[in-house]
Amino acid sequence: MSFELKLLAGNSNRPLAEKISNYLGVPLTDADVSRFKDGEVSVKINENIRGTDLFIIQPTQAPAENLIELLVMIDSALRASARRITAVIPYFGYARQDRKDQPRVPISAKLMANLITTAGANRVLTMDLHASQIQGFFDIPLDHLYSAPIFVKYFSEMEFPDLVVVAPDHGGVEMARAYAKRLGASLAFIDKRRPHKDRAEVVHVVGRVRGKTVIIQDDIINTGETLTKGALAIKDRGAKEVYACCTHPVLSQGAVEGVEKSPISKLSVSDTIPLKKGVNSPKIEVISVSDLLGEAIGRIHREESVSSLFY
Ligand code: R5P
Repeated sequence: MSFELKLLAGNSNRPLAEKISNYLGVPLTDADVSRFKDGEVSVKINENIRGTDLFIIQPTQAPAENLIELLVMIDSALRASARRITAVIPYFGYARQDRKDQPRVPISAKLMANLITTAGANRVLTMDLHASQIQGFFDIPLDHLYSAPIFVKYFSEMEFPDLVVVAPDHGGVEMARAYAKRLGASLAFIDKRRPHKDRAEVVHVVGRVRGKTVIIQDDIINTGETLTKGALAIKDRGAKEVYACCTHPVLSQGAVEGVEKSPISKLSVSDTIPLKKGVNSPKIEVISVSDLLGEAIGRIHREESVSSLFY
């Protein structure tokens, strides 16, 4: 693109935005993204962005204020005549209700896609969507990155013998298979049930884990029930050691304590969203995806291939 690349960030993950800015050597655009006295979101971009290729970096984890900041920043950019606006959403919130699988439930992921598009985004760059088909909820171009290359490299360096990658539920099998293939590991999966939206139960472990080192791979850790109960079931079936990796560390109240008490030796997460204040567990390690996002932004700007970053 011949027009200038600019980066704008809200408050949902400033440290990640700063790392992306360092990677690209492009400073964050001067802007005030703050609150009016009554709590409403206030945005003021303090420099000229007319005619620019603007990337707005803002994951949309709870609270919903993060989403509102993104929408209001997009609107500001549109009205300030940015030539192209890309919403960089490393964690796309409200993604879990992505189909009408029960009576009287919303498809929240589609609603979020509509809001972002209606606000004026021209493109989206995101990572490890809860379900790949959410890409189709957007009628604008969307680049979907995977954190897999980063975690696979990390686990390759550990050189575990007798490794098994475990999907914590049937929805995770495809990604776990991709990890297993790249790590030269075998594959197993957990037959998980959800008796309640915030509870998980392990019904079966399908595949051999006895005597093996296991990596449970998931996209989100929220309550931690899926991972910790999965780890317990795997350990009960004779696994030697259990590691876990998760792209988006939502870590709701009680999740960190759950991980600490669990048989998980180490939980590796990415920085698509920041760890909550006070989370400081020796079991939880953060691996940054900033360079991958920065590289993708650079390539989108230069109209180069992004798919080569998938491996
Ligand atoms: C489920 O479909 C997802 O892939 C995660 O397994 C889930 O969101 C994790 O939630 P929790 O930590 O609350 O069990």
